[in-house]
Amino acid sequence: MTKKVLVLPGDGIGPEIIAEAVKVLNVVNQRFDLGIELSEGLLGGAAVDATGLPLPESTLEAAKQADAILLGAVGGPKWDKVETAKRPERGLLGIRSGLKLFANLRPAILYPQLAHASTLKPEVVSGLDILIVRELTGGIYFGQPRGIRTLENGEKEGFNTYVYSESEIRRIAHVAFSLARQRSSRVCSIDKSNVLEVTVLWRDVMEEVAKEYPDVELSHMYVDNAAMQLVRAPKQFDVLVTGNMFGDILSDEAAMLTGSIGMLPSASLDINNKGMYEPCHGSAPDIAGQGIANPLATILSAAMMLRYTFNEGSAADAIEKAVSDVLDQNLRTADIWSEGMQKVGTQAMGDAVVAALQQ
Ligand code: NAI
Ligand code: MG
Repeated sequence: MTKKVLVLPGDGIGPEIIAEAVKVLNVVNQRFDLGIELSEGLLGGAAVDATGLPLPESTLEAAKQADAILLGAVGGPKWDKVETAKRPERGLLGIRSGLKLFANLRPAILYPQLAHASTLKPEVVSGLDILIVRELTGGIYFGQPRGIRTLENGEKEGFNTYVYSESEIRRIAHVAFSLARQRSSRVCSIDKSNVLEVTVLWRDVMEEVAKEYPDVELSHMYVDNAAMQLVRAPKQFDVLVTGNMFGDILSDEAAMLTGSIGMLPSASLDINNKGMYEPCHGSAPDIAGQGIANPLATILSAAMMLRYTFNEGSAADAIEKAVSDVLDQNLRTADIWSEGMQKVGTQAMGDAVVAALQQ
């Protein structure tokens, strides 16, 4: 069966890093006989420039037809003057909600070769391998009503609604529990149930779903404590599951434990494990066009795609091993470079991963 992958390079460093990930995908496609068929589409600034819209109808249609999407990055000062609804970043939000990608997976993995890159002590972070599962299409970012209104006394008041239904909580819980099964079988659910009713329900539903996974250990933590524990002793966690806003904040915090934004992939999945895969970083307009961006986060996102959407664990493992191999060869892009290492550009890094795969 063919696997249809839509590639959306976006803008900024997007096209540069995507080119390397596509090289890598082509190699594993052949070696593991995956039957992947790639097509390309316009998104973000590239689409704004060509069509006036960040998410052209044809791109959304192609995304719906595809089994998976590999995305570079979008956004930048070039489009600052474009009206908000047509900004490149809107294209991204449009795809996420258009495809109902409710489960955002963000691993924070510290490669031992890069232990120095973290601002935390090596003994606190070395060997770190945690996975944050963030609900992406509900919670306070989407709740209605919302807005800014003027009160009778003339004062303005801003308001948002924090709401989760049982079914929304249940489906993200299943994602977290089944992923935990493939890891060390521990889930920590993050809430604020001492203050917020919506997360009292969150905690209840987590407990209910946990009964279907007797082999997985469930614990709970308040979000303020979790923020603290992530920098105090992050290795106590395996899978963390939380709502949209807490997940937004905690996943950025967790990413920085590893110190290197250029290394972190992500996945956003729908109920059928169809997904969009992209690096955690943005379009890095400050270095775009210079051939120095780190392509490894995008290459690792392609590995996540093979694992989660296509169930091709061995091919995913091969990519991840190749990435580790190039780090062992002391090859480093500028963002992860340190004294004594060999500095390479985007293409050379991609070529090195390809060579490691062909070993
Ligand atoms: P950014 O992640 O693009 O860049 C932050 C810093 O990290 C910059 O100094 C950049 O050079 C560096 N960096 C990022 N990725 C790198 C890589 N692969 N290799 C080496 N260095 C890398 O975040 P920033 O500057 O806040 O945002 C720039 C634009 O990207 C904005 O328009 C923002 O809206 C957009 N953005 C897009 C995202 C996406 O497409 N998913 C996510 C985050 C931001
Ligand atoms: Mg964020």
